[in-house]
Amino acid sequence: MFNKIRLWKNKNNSSTLRDKIEKIKKLPVPEHVAIIMDGNGRWAKKRALPRIAGHHEGMKVVRKTTKLANELGLKAITLYAFSTENWKRPKNEVDYIMKLPDEFLGTFLPELIEENVQVKMMGYKSQLPVHTLSAIEKAIEETKNNDGLVLNFALNYGSRAEILDAVKQVVNDCNSGKLLEDQLDEKVFSSYLMTTEFTDPDLLIRTSGEIRLSNFMLWQLAYSELWFTDVLWPDFNEEHLLEAVEAFQKRQRRFGGV
Ligand code: FPP
Repeated sequence: MFNKIRLWKNKNNSSTLRDKIEKIKKLPVPEHVAIIMDGNGRWAKKRALPRIAGHHEGMKVVRKTTKLANELGLKAITLYAFSTENWKRPKNEVDYIMKLPDEFLGTFLPELIEENVQVKMMGYKSQLPVHTLSAIEKAIEETKNNDGLVLNFALNYGSRAEILDAVKQVVNDCNSGKLLEDQLDEKVFSSYLMTTEFTDPDLLIRTSGEIRLSNFMLWQLAYSELWFTDVLWPDFNEEHLLEAVEAFQKRQRRFGGV
């Protein structure tokens, strides 16, 4: 069962974690957290393992992160699992990453359903292998009536391509008279993006010490709080997520005001 007790029972410091969770839940939590899960390759290299071992370990962290995000009452997490640029990686690595959704959802979908999690995906579907897409589509279908945490996989996603496609669609709609130029504002433009059903992320987390956005949600992250950690994704644990959310709670968001 995907419940609170099981979530913490292996931890020696479970009471400290539980206290932290309760403390954090007393203050507003970010609604939408976006995560760049980086450092799988370096994690594997440090252990003289193949890079794919890091991705497999990273997949397990997706499960832990989802559980805790749900427990904290977040509305959505968007995880950068594969970018439109990641096709440049060696074929065996790409093939392996493309199998991870099958394995993850094949194993954990019943838990996600039980926990009321909704699975979603954003990215260019047509280039994905059939097995990857069908695992995701099955999960989307089977969780579509859930109304808890949204677990949104960014898979074959690239922000510049997304923005360009939105611009092309806007031009089309203006040319056909469906949209008037004067009607186009930030809210309307946002509705042309892949994230139309989401609020913009309140918090972006990137692991592994890299301080860049790597073509991830460039429009949507305009006012997000950014939190970078040196921790490699496979080592990212509940403590780290709580640390990021606590840091968010201490920040004062001004959205350009004073
Ligand atoms: C970046 O680390 C990581 C990726 C491109 C893949 C991320 C995928 C997962 C964490 C698993 C996703 C799970 C599911 C269920 C889809 P890197 O390989 O660039 O690491 P490096 O910078 O250390 O080389």
